[in-house]
Amino acid sequence: AGKRPYQAAVITLSDKGSHGERHDESGPALAACLREAGYDVVETLLLADEAGPLQQHLRRLADQRQVDLILTTGGTGLSPRDITPEATLAVADKQVPGISEALRAASLAITPRAMLSRGVSVIRKKTLIINFPGSTKACREYWAIVADVLPHGLDILR
Ligand code: MTE
Repeated sequence: AGKRPYQAAVITLSDKGSHGERHDESGPALAACLREAGYDVVETLLLADEAGPLQQHLRRLADQRQVDLILTTGGTGLSPRDITPEATLAVADKQVPGISEALRAASLAITPRAMLSRGVSVIRKKTLIINFPGSTKACREYWAIVADVLPHGLDILR
């Protein structure tokens, strides 16, 4: 009670979405999940699958904007263009492997394809960054798995 709401940002990685060739649904779905849970969603971005711009935005959101949480969606698979985990690790101070381990383990009960997401979870400064897969379905499932645990982690990080 009396605590300020957590500030969150959502970044969608999608070559097609960023070129207007596909309607981006997973980013808005995640933003809705966050708002419903009481988070302030201060930015939503749609980027191509390129490491440089993703790293720049992750650094800016953590260092300048100082958001509590960044959720990325997309670019975690095995395609040559999927670079989200590598770009996330490149800006990380620390890894939080347990979050992504739990996400994959719980998701395996839903689909064996869950093992094909290479997503990572990291800390940069006081910001927690978690990679979600690209599908809207997967994003809602991932959110349901982590939502209740996140506030405890974010409080310790503050
Ligand atoms: N995890 C959950 N919970 N639900 C899903 O439907 N889809 C998988 C996996 N993780 C899925 C999931 C599939 S099919 C792929 S290819 C990988 O996430 C990577 O997705 P991405 O490349 O869009 O990030």
